[in-house]
Amino acid sequence: MHSTLECVAEWMTRQRWYAGKGRVPQLVEVSREDWACADPDARIRVLLLRDIASTPPSLYHVPLVLRTTIPRGRGPQLIGRDENDDYLFDAPHDPAYVSTLLHRLGVRRDDEAGRVHTGEQSNTSIIIDGGSEAPLVAKVFRLVHAGENPDVVLQSALTAAGNRSVPRMLGALSATWSDPHGSDAHTDEPVTGHIAFAQEFVPGVRDGWPLALEAAEEGESFTADAERLGRVTADVHAALARCLPSREATLGDVVGFVAGWHQRLAIAMADVPQLRELRPAIEAVYDAASGAPWPPLQRIHGDFHLGQVLRRPSGEWLLVDFEGEPLRPLAERSRVDSPLRDVAGMLRSFDYAVGSLRSATRAAAGVIDTASLDLDALAQEAERAEWARAARAAFLDGYIAVSGLDLRAHRALLDAFELDKAVYEAMYEARNRPTWLPIPLAAVAYLVSTPRAAKR
Ligand SMILES: Nc1ncnc2c1ncn2[C@@H]1O[C@H](COP(=O)(O)OP(=O)(O)O)[C@@H](O)[C@H]1O
Ligand SMILES: [Mg+2]
Repeated sequence: MHSTLECVAEWMTRQRWYAGKGRVPQLVEVSREDWACADPDARIRVLLLRDIASTPPSLYHVPLVLRTTIPRGRGPQLIGRDENDDYLFDAPHDPAYVSTLLHRLGVRRDDEAGRVHTGEQSNTSIIIDGGSEAPLVAKVFRLVHAGENPDVVLQSALTAAGNRSVPRMLGALSATWSDPHGSDAHTDEPVTGHIAFAQEFVPGVRDGWPLALEAAEEGESFTADAERLGRVTADVHAALARCLPSREATLGDVVGFVAGWHQRLAIAMADVPQLRELRPAIEAVYDAASGAPWPPLQRIHGDFHLGQVLRRPSGEWLLVDFEGEPLRPLAERSRVDSPLRDVAGMLRSFDYAVGSLRSATRAAAGVIDTASLDLDALAQEAERAEWARAARAAFLDGYIAVSGLDLRAHRALLDAFELDKAVYEAMYEARNRPTWLPIPLAAVAYLVSTPRAAKR
């Protein structure tokens, strides 16, 4: 028998959304709210738990359902049994919680049977698509912050503006808590932040990442899709610039961006020794960007890649997940930023699609033996490199056509954003997935190369 927090701590380490990989969290209860619910056999307890072992201390949203018996078939969602003999369940899988959550989000449905999205996710989404009413998806944020979540702010603004390239926003839910030692509060005053929201569920869509992977693997062109994606990206950027703050970049802004790039590079060099050698060349790209013209700043997606775009059966693209990078401080993610950051993110994603396929083939082949170099495999690698080049070019063409912003004239700046992203990726791969390190490292080496510089 363990305390609730002990049970949750052990279970959390196995959850996809847990940010502290390989480490058991040290949890402190920051807030507890018991929600009334219609099911007499269930009690809903919504916890906000701070992991004090992480820096900065992450705040997790962990809704639980407490029951005295285990309903048939619900075993896999059991978190544990606490000191009061209650069975603790992961709430998003429990109908009692789902129906209460929908009620609080203001989005009741005739059939509220939900299913938890099973794909790769850093939050937890519950899909409700059983009844006769319009299907919806409720996203339960796992890492929460004081302040408004950009996912809610941006998608609400785009919905209000009638934009059709994001799922329609239906409702959001906040919680209030006091967390004087939290990373974004530093105050005894209670703070408020979003913990969940609901949006239209779009049936039949496919994620951009597997679509791109399949196309690259089969050697099928992706340029028409990439071009349309570029157009939609520019269209959403334009809509965001109209309905949320946007302004010219000041000298202070530019200095801030460039300082951020240098800082990221300094941190990454500790994990990736190869970056040390390239440092002068990388810094030269950053310095050139600081003297280049900057397009206006505005709210952006913030974590833009092929895993954040969905293709409707009609071929139209939808953009989702405007939260930004969940581990970055919320204040930073809620500011105006450069739309080129999103463009660079998607360019890197095309490169990653072919890079990940290459890593898979190389890993399967084992140690490279020059006597058995497979010419077919090498030809395929070259073909895939061409696939990525064409997809990247088509994405830029689509973006330019709609935005009117000549990205090729902003090459020095776009390269700096892409380089910063690749440097960050190199650090991430060195720490988490060393066999993938060659993907971003190749991009860094290319972006600082003489042939590339000649194009700027
Ligand atoms: N409105 C929607 N309609 C259909 N599928 C969706 C919708 N929103 C998200 N999804 C699916 O859920 C996945 C994760 O959603 P996302 O918002 O990116 O969550 P996370 O913040 O956890 O990454 C998406 O990649 C997509 O497959
Ligand atoms: Mg996502």
